Amino acid sequence: MRLKDQIITERLPKHVAVIMDGNGRWAKRQGAERIFGHQHGVKAVRDTTEAAAELGIQFLTLYAFSTENWNRPRAEVDALMELLIHTIHAETATLNKNNIRLLAIGDLHSLPGNCYEQLQEAIRETSTNTRMTLVLALSYSSKWEITAAVKRIAIEVRDGMLKPEDIREDLISGYLTTAGIPDPELLIRTSGEHRISNFLLWQIAYAELYFTDKLWPEFGKDDLYAALVDYQQRERRFGMVSEQLK
Ligand code: IPE
Ligand code: IPE
Ligand code: MG
Repeated sequence: MRLKDQIITERLPKHVAVIMDGNGRWAKRQGAERIFGHQHGVKAVRDTTEAAAELGIQFLTLYAFSTENWNRPRAEVDALMELLIHTIHAETATLNKNNIRLLAIGDLHSLPGNCYEQLQEAIRETSTNTRMTLVLALSYSSKWEITAAVKRIAIEVRDGMLKPEDIREDLISGYLTTAGIPDPELLIRTSGEHRISNFLLWQIAYAELYFTDKLWPEFGKDDLYAALVDYQQRERRFGMVSEQLK
């Protein structure tokens, strides 16, 4: 049976998050510059987004640039920002055609001005689309996000707008950049690295983790299907015992 046909539509995760890793190594293997890998990564973004929307996944979050990635060589950072601007501009029409809404999480004001503008424009132009939400994590890190949330909560408590006893888990979720987005049930990381790299630490508290050796530019629809089939074979117990789930 084809991988896609093994997926049980009724038991799809609502939200899949992906750490897209391995562009540089993929390029190196071809004897090319790292940026060549990032350029080819765009095709994997397109294929994964299309596959997720076709299946009926509601939220797809892609980790595209971390806070720590600012520490890369200047030329690579500049090339990535250029690629980002170009890709967002070029793909907005396709997002609209496929009824996909774009959102972004992260410290967006730290992006170059033209990148920020392009992003806001695409977000605006796709804001009424309803089939799936594509969330780009840009200049994002989980510790940055949690720190910003704690700061805002502290200020509101100080100013009497919030009482300490109001601080519950769902209130905290509402102060994160992912407010309103359900937590991912499945987190995929490519390139064989087994780490989270400061991504959605709060939100993945109970996510299923899926690691593949595929490098991001090689990742295609079948790789997403394989991750979903694997996910659906797992028993999510949330601290309970198997018998309680029956
Ligand atoms: C992921 O690929 C893309 C970004 C982090 C922007 P990398 O650029 O990290 O590629 P590797 O891990 O060095 O191969
Ligand atoms: C994680 O990849 C960040 C993104 C995919 C955007 P990195 O390549 O930056 O992560 P580390 O440095 O290997 O942990
Ligand atoms: Mg990497």
